[in-house]
Amino acid sequence: MNGVSGGAGIAVRVARKTVEAEGVAGFRLVPVDGERLPAFTPGAHIDVALPGGLVRQYSLCNASAPDDAGHYEIGVLRDAASRGGSRAMHDAVHEGSVLQIGPPRNLFALDESATHSLLLAGGIGVTPLLSMAQRLATLGADFALHCCSRSAARAPYRRRLEDSTFTDKVFFHHDDGPPAQHIDLAATLGRPAPGRHVYVCGPSGFLEAVRTTARALHWADAQVHFESFSGAAPPADGQGSFEVELHRSRRVVRIPATMTVLDALAAEGIEIPVSCAQGVCGTCLTRVLAGEVAHHDLYLTPAEQAANDCFLPCCSRARSPRLVLDL
Ligand code: FES
Repeated sequence: MNGVSGGAGIAVRVARKTVEAEGVAGFRLVPVDGERLPAFTPGAHIDVALPGGLVRQYSLCNASAPDDAGHYEIGVLRDAASRGGSRAMHDAVHEGSVLQIGPPRNLFALDESATHSLLLAGGIGVTPLLSMAQRLATLGADFALHCCSRSAARAPYRRRLEDSTFTDKVFFHHDDGPPAQHIDLAATLGRPAPGRHVYVCGPSGFLEAVRTTARALHWADAQVHFESFSGAAPPADGQGSFEVELHRSRRVVRIPATMTVLDALAAEGIEIPVSCAQGVCGTCLTRVLAGEVAHHDLYLTPAEQAANDCFLPCCSRARSPRLVLDL
C-alpha cells in the first residue's frame, strides 16, 4: 500500500516555483536526500501532504522516466472553491519548502501500442497529458493534443507547449477566442477505429461533454480514458445497510444505507484519519479481518481489492451482512 499516510512518504524540496498561467503555479520537486525519485509512467499522480494536514493528488507533468527521474513537476490551479488544498500550495509552499509526497501511482495509463492517441485537456487537466505528449513524441507516435481554456492567459503550460518539439501537434482553443477556434468535439474525436485511443482530463463538465459525444459517435468505452481524480462517489443508497464489527474494541455499529462507514463510525465517536473522503488518497485505509468488501475507491489496485484484506471506509461498503475491521 502506498501513500503519504502509509509510511511510504518521500521528502522533496521545492526547487522552483513558477507561474504557468493565470492562477496556475508550477512546482519542480527534487529529492531532499539527493537520491533518484521513483520512476513513473505518463498519467501518474502523486499524493502531496500539505501544510495544515491536507493530502492532495497532483498529476506529474514532466517527461517520465527513463527520460528524466531526477525531479517531479506538478501544476496547481488556484481554485476559488478549494477546500484548502490549492490555496495551501499557492500561498504556503515556496521555493525551498520541504514536502512529503507518496510514490507515483497511475490510474490513467497510456497505451503505447496505439496507432493514434488523441489527448483532450480542459484547463489544468493538461498536466497528465503533457507527460503523455512528451512520451508519445519521444516514441515518434502519432498523436494530437487539444488544450481548452477560458483564455490564452489561462492556458496552463502554453509557453512550454509552444516551445516543444511537438508544437505542430498541439492545438489551443479558448472560450473568449473567435468561434472558428472553439473545439468541435465531434469533429475532433471523429469516428472510432481500431488502435485509436482518447485521453481526457479536465473539469467534470468537460469530461461529460467528451463522454456524451464519444458515445454518440460509437466509441467503445475501452478506447476513451478519463482521469478521475475526483474519485468514485459513494453510492447514494449503497448496497443497503450492514454491520461493522470492531474487532479490538468488540463493538458493532450499524451502517445505514445513506451513510459512509467513515461517517457512521465518526457518529459513534470512532475516528479514522481522513483526507480526500473520495477513495483517492488512501488515508483512511483500514484492515478487514472478515466479510466481503464492495470496493468503490480508486486507490487500491484490482489485485489489492481482490485480496479483500483492506478497504477505504470513506467510500467502500460491504457485500456481506457484516464486515469485521481491525479497529
Ligand atoms: Fe482518501 Fe479515504 S480519505 S481514500
